[in-house]
Amino acid sequence: MALFCNIIISPKPFVLSCSYQKTHLSKTPQNTKQDPIFKIKGPATLSGHITISGSKNSSLALLAATLCCSGTSLLHNVPNISDIQAMASILSSLGAKVESFDGKMMVNSDGVGKVEVDLEEMRKIRGGFFVIGPLVARFGEAVVALPGGCNIGKRPVDLHLRGDGKVWAHTANVKGLVGGRFRLDYPSVGATETLMMAASMADGITLLSNVAKEPEVVDLARFLNDSGASIEGAGSDTLVIRGKSQLYGSECVIRPDRIEAGTFMIAAAITRSCISMSPVIPSRASCLIDKLSEAGCKISQVDQHTLRVSAVPALYPGDDLKSFGIKTSPFPGFPTDLQPQIMSLLTTCTGSSLVEESVFDNRMSHARELQKLGARIQVNGNSAIVFGKDKGSSLCGSRVIARDLRGGASLILAGLAAKGTTEIHKIEHIERGYENIVTKLQNLGADIERSTLPLLSSLV
Ligand code: UD1
Repeated sequence: MALFCNIIISPKPFVLSCSYQKTHLSKTPQNTKQDPIFKIKGPATLSGHITISGSKNSSLALLAATLCCSGTSLLHNVPNISDIQAMASILSSLGAKVESFDGKMMVNSDGVGKVEVDLEEMRKIRGGFFVIGPLVARFGEAVVALPGGCNIGKRPVDLHLRGDGKVWAHTANVKGLVGGRFRLDYPSVGATETLMMAASMADGITLLSNVAKEPEVVDLARFLNDSGASIEGAGSDTLVIRGKSQLYGSECVIRPDRIEAGTFMIAAAITRSCISMSPVIPSRASCLIDKLSEAGCKISQVDQHTLRVSAVPALYPGDDLKSFGIKTSPFPGFPTDLQPQIMSLLTTCTGSSLVEESVFDNRMSHARELQKLGARIQVNGNSAIVFGKDKGSSLCGSRVIARDLRGGASLILAGLAAKGTTEIHKIEHIERGYENIVTKLQNLGADIERSTLPLLSSLV
């Protein structure tokens, strides 16, 4: 049976299950390289209000989806972070016109005529792989690289490809995709999003089951539907998608980043402070709200989109925040993207806690860095026991390395709580996903700065 679509993963060898080996080396000679770092003097007490940026992961999916649309798509509230810049480069490399200004991105993909993605850019971000959905839907083929993103486990793309194959593997005499039925073995967010885009332009009806229920999937469905698609069931585990031959660019405001909001909620908790934040969609953060409340934080909804988080000692009963356990799982379970930050918080709580990672198979590397700050953590595979503080003990500043995006965020949080100076290296990981994090924390009263060291003197 011949397939309509042809997905080439370059460079060879074609290995679907290999994890992408990230390189963040620049092309400049080693002795001239600079190493940007964050320097934090703690312990900090935070106060005030912060504005939460638009969601990184929703933006990435919607930017890819603009490739499905004729005419111009306008996205508002897109965060200015390096992952988004990489996605913009990917779209441009395909021939799309991309303009960004004041948090807006305007994409017109009428001029897209090639199917070979800029492989260097694609290797930088996980979300770059989303473009296979629109490309194969429009052109019947795509030439892509194994995607980048955080080094937190194997991160294969088999579900994207098997699912896509299933949707369009029905051979026929017409060019284009044909709807079908496909059940994902696991509710992968990326595979769900890729398949939604492909099926939106396929011929006929597609039934996708065991799909991801994450809010970013709902955001993507909303954008595609506003652009003329017909997707029912987003937010549940089954999607019914009626394919359309043409989608038209539309306008969309990116929803607030629930992981950034969660990171700041944990920042309030770990510094035993009180801050407020908006915009937030509380229903997208309910798991974290429950856990922080269990620890003793007071979380109140000031208005529809504003939350106040308080961990000021006088406000909770007992001596200090109490430990609690978490196990990550797909939405509405505890988000894996907040597991490292929660681990930092737990090192400052009374009692010991069990942290279990069930989404990715290698997402504990921040534990080693937290140990450099004095944290007592015992890692066993994908679980960790975090021993909370003894009376009087606490974290102490040190030099640490951000090994991935959210692991890097956990180090910032720990640095805010630690006594003395914490120097975080490899912050390019953090800057992939947090817009203006230094300024935002400074505005809350933190003593944090971004500076640059010559690389050789900063090897950790
Ligand atoms: C997305 C998010 C990431 C978040 C994750 C889980 C983006 C750009 N990234 O990543 O921030 O941590 O969801 O909420 O939106 N898997 C397979 N085969 C596949 C695809 C995935 O086995 O084809 C496995 C992965 O190895 C992992 C699990 O499924 O163990 C979850 O991955 P997935 O939901 O796909 O995460 P991403 O879409 O990569």
